[in-house]
Amino acid sequence: MKFFLDTANLEEIKEASSLGVLRGVTTNPSLVSKEKVALEEQVEKICALVQDYPVSVEVLSTSAREMVAEARRLAGIASNIVIKIPICIEGLKAVYALTNGENKVPCNVTLVFSFNQALLAAIAGAAYVSPFLGRIDDIGGDGVGLVEDIVAIFEKQKMDKTEVIAASIRHPRHVHQVAAAGAHIATVPFSVLKQMAGHPLTDLGIEKFEADWARALEAMNSLPGTEPG
Ligand code: G3P
Repeated sequence: MKFFLDTANLEEIKEASSLGVLRGVTTNPSLVSKEKVALEEQVEKICALVQDYPVSVEVLSTSAREMVAEARRLAGIASNIVIKIPICIEGLKAVYALTNGENKVPCNVTLVFSFNQALLAAIAGAAYVSPFLGRIDDIGGDGVGLVEDIVAIFEKQKMDKTEVIAASIRHPRHVHQVAAAGAHIATVPFSVLKQMAGHPLTDLGIEKFEADWARALEAMNSLPGTEPG
């Protein structure tokens, strides 16, 4: 499973890149709006930071014709842009137009909350589908179950041109669960990535090693004939 970072924050992307685990970035209008900068400007900077990996940017238009025009404009920012399109009838038309014919633009179909939405998106030509598992859990549903279903049925149907991005991840347990479900990608907030690297017993272990070592040094330094270190 690959890790994408779900953010539009440059510092978070730089730090995650330095960990060697980052294979892409996903943004959405809410995440970009938090950065308080022009969307195109921010997207250009993000694409430059992760040149070798895909960066998903969402369209805000609502008709297929406008979505396609907006997508083509955004895709011109950098060669690693993937266009995020919300699942709906107009969105499907836009995905089909962008992924067929000349000048293909890869699409990530977003706001997926059911298997059938994912199915239609994949058949229309989406390179990625993004089920939002956290938001499903938020209303008492089974977000991980949806990811499991999409992965299992796509495999059964040999639909191998579309990768499943487990999105709207809330905590490290979600990551574990979607990895077990066979999701191709998990897009995680930076806070979750940091939580994944930590464990209270690791912190305690480091503290204990440091304290034991400091005590040993103190004991060595207090031996007769030893210069204080
Ligand atoms: O980027 C899409 C998705 O991951 C958003 O998650 O936390 O707003 O439900 P969230």
